[in-house]
Amino acid sequence: MVRVLLYTGKGGVGKTSVSAATGIELASRGLKTLVISTDPAHSLRDAFQRDIGNDPVQVSENLYLQEVSVTESIRKYWDTLKLYLTALMRSQGVEGIAAEEIATLPGFDEATELLYIREYARNNRFDVVIMDTAPTGESLKLLSFPEAFSWYMERIFPIGRKTAKIMRPLMKPFLGVPIPDDKVFGSIEELYSQMREVEEILSDPKITTIRLVCNPDRMSFNETKRAFTYLLMYGYNVDSVIINKIYDDDTGDFLKKWRESQSEVLKEIETAFADLTILKIPMSEKEPTGLKLLEQMGKKLYKNLDPMNTMSDIIPPIQFLVEDKQKIIKIRVPFADKENTELHNRGGELVVQIDNWRRVFFLPQSMSELNPVNAEFNKGYLDIEMS
Ligand SMILES: Nc1ncnc2c1ncn2[C@@H]1O[C@H](COP(=O)(O)OP(=O)(O)OP(=O)(O)O)[C@@H](O)[C@H]1O
Ligand SMILES: [Mg+2]
Repeated sequence: MVRVLLYTGKGGVGKTSVSAATGIELASRGLKTLVISTDPAHSLRDAFQRDIGNDPVQVSENLYLQEVSVTESIRKYWDTLKLYLTALMRSQGVEGIAAEEIATLPGFDEATELLYIREYARNNRFDVVIMDTAPTGESLKLLSFPEAFSWYMERIFPIGRKTAKIMRPLMKPFLGVPIPDDKVFGSIEELYSQMREVEEILSDPKITTIRLVCNPDRMSFNETKRAFTYLLMYGYNVDSVIINKIYDDDTGDFLKKWRESQSEVLKEIETAFADLTILKIPMSEKEPTGLKLLEQMGKKLYKNLDPMNTMSDIIPPIQFLVEDKQKIIKIRVPFADKENTELHNRGGELVVQIDNWRRVFFLPQSMSELNPVNAEFNKGYLDIEMS
């Protein structure tokens, strides 16, 4: 079974370098490793100082790199769907829409990259796939896409969640909407079930682990806390925080104040993320590019730890519980606060919004008829009472 390790964090903190270093480390341990970049501003090529294409290229024994091109992946996966969506929009009076513009559905284009993850999870071409992502906001958009996409699809087309089949009789009431032919139906169903698979791969703690990369400064720390909260809300598993670019003691007088503030922030990070593993990397004298320097970075980062392991206890981010006959949904959101959290029930769906990030929960059968009647923050969890 493939393992997926995803590195995310604020812009410039070292996601690409850490992904590259991890790739080199795992390849040297004999695992067939792919580092895949989903950041449209690809910089794997800079880290490895060589050209990389849309298909995996081998750079050393066991190590492959891929920079996904959005245009290529749309071409590969989306043609038929775009045609149908265009027809659907036209029939609704939306004129002059180009198939290309359909791809501007939020996150649509970059999300095609996720289909590669599904492909690699299925064909076992690699033992481990390391995802080097774009800065936090973009990667959250990417990671929230599969679920949002399923949601849209289930509304545009009446698709059964279990069967992934479109319920055709239900299509009739949309008068004037062209009922697509079998080929198009087939491709819509296929796409839907592929995205559902992506959702499952990314939220399965045995397959996917997310690691937060940050620097020991306050802005990066704050962003890391928020990212952690949103990732948990989406049901992802995070096992560690990698603090990069720490100034060593021998960095001279000029950086004295920086070292002091770094050590303060370091302590705060350690307290805030006490239930995760904290890994540290010093600021190096030179930019860590090229196989040799990145390999050294990997050694400093993992020491005797195995990057393939989940480095902290797996705590389910979302639980559906029954306590004293009361049905409760428990969501782990350690750094969310009441003011920035909103909850409502929309036709049997539970909508949770923290800051600008929203998740629609498909309730399990036992709760589908219930409404949220009370919600409280309790030791890093949001407990929602359903009745
Ligand atoms: N430990 C380190 N010591 C010195 N320089 C570093 C270290 N880690 C990363 N860098 C350098 O910092 C810069 C940013 O690193 P990198 O590109 O890996 O960050 P990123 O988080 O992927 O950035 P982006 O958000 O742009 O994708 C690069 O020039 C990289 O070589
Ligand atoms: Mg990068």
